[in-house]
Amino acid sequence: MAGNESGSPVRYALVDCDPGVDDTLALAMGFASPFFRYDAVTTVHGNVSARLAYRNARRLTAFLRDHLESPVLDVPVYPGASLALDGSRMNRSESRAIHGPEGMGAMFDKKRRLPRPGRGSSKPAWEVMVEEAARRGSALTIITLGPLTNLALALRRAPGVFTRVKRIVVMGGAARMPGNVTPAAEFNIYCDPLAAKEVFSSGLPVTMVGLDVTRRALLRVDEFEGGGPFRAAIRDLIKVYARFAKKRRGAEDITLHDPLALAVAMRPDLVETTPCRVDVDASRGIARGMTVVELRENRGSRVKNPVDVALDLDVKGFLAFFISHLRKYRGWDEDEK
Ligand code: RIB
Ligand code: CA
Repeated sequence: MAGNESGSPVRYALVDCDPGVDDTLALAMGFASPFFRYDAVTTVHGNVSARLAYRNARRLTAFLRDHLESPVLDVPVYPGASLALDGSRMNRSESRAIHGPEGMGAMFDKKRRLPRPGRGSSKPAWEVMVEEAARRGSALTIITLGPLTNLALALRRAPGVFTRVKRIVVMGGAARMPGNVTPAAEFNIYCDPLAAKEVFSSGLPVTMVGLDVTRRALLRVDEFEGGGPFRAAIRDLIKVYARFAKKRRGAEDITLHDPLALAVAMRPDLVETTPCRVDVDASRGIARGMTVVELRENRGSRVKNPVDVALDLDVKGFLAFFISHLRKYRGWDEDEK
């Protein structure tokens, strides 16, 4: 296994996402940390179409790279699935209200010079996942920030390849609380419940970072006031998302669902997890996308294929971790261009 400057083994990551405002904040946080070497970003349908997710991710990786002192290597982006495994397609009217018509708030609106798109590829995301798992094995962490379609397709193609992967951290689901897209279901799971069912029952080392903890990962929007051009870009990114929060919850804060999942991949101590069986309603009924988490007493230890479900969060520790990484960007403060 390759080593880095300090001689410790390199940790590799693949992030699968549907950018998306909070996906963008997650990648901004992750790219500013030396913890992982990012071999790939893969994109998937969800907050936006698969086509827009791919375009947004290529613009974003280039934008982040151009604002980092110690630049992240040119992280390639790979396009993924446009429909759920069962062929269903989401109605995205609410996603547009949350993430903006093109999924990036006003971050890449006309007034801001568009970055030259980062490296793209015609290789599909699920093929890259299989290749990465075979190549990096126990040095690889996969973080999914959108529907699990790509990962499920990869597992279907080569299940044996993933058995050595260090960890799969999934932003999705809810154990003890209602969903956010229906009373029963969280958005990422709802978009492709069959994919989630296959991932959660795979027996792989999966951590579920669901609404039980992400709903507590709230950051006040005034954290983004002032500063330089990078902070202004983030302010533009989140303004639609924040306006929706104000209308929906009457709060001037944003929910950092995806940044928390990526943070947990770097700092698992930020959450408390319990091994549970997690099943998913993959029907087209009223409970579609519901994660049924076995939390009854003394059942976790006997569970076949348990998932580590995050149930508690060090809120202050996470928020400090998150913002400390955004501060590393050139243009976060006003005296930098
Ligand atoms: O429920 C929150 C999740 O759905 C986040 O990943 C957000 O980006 C949306 O994809
Ligand atoms: Ca997402």
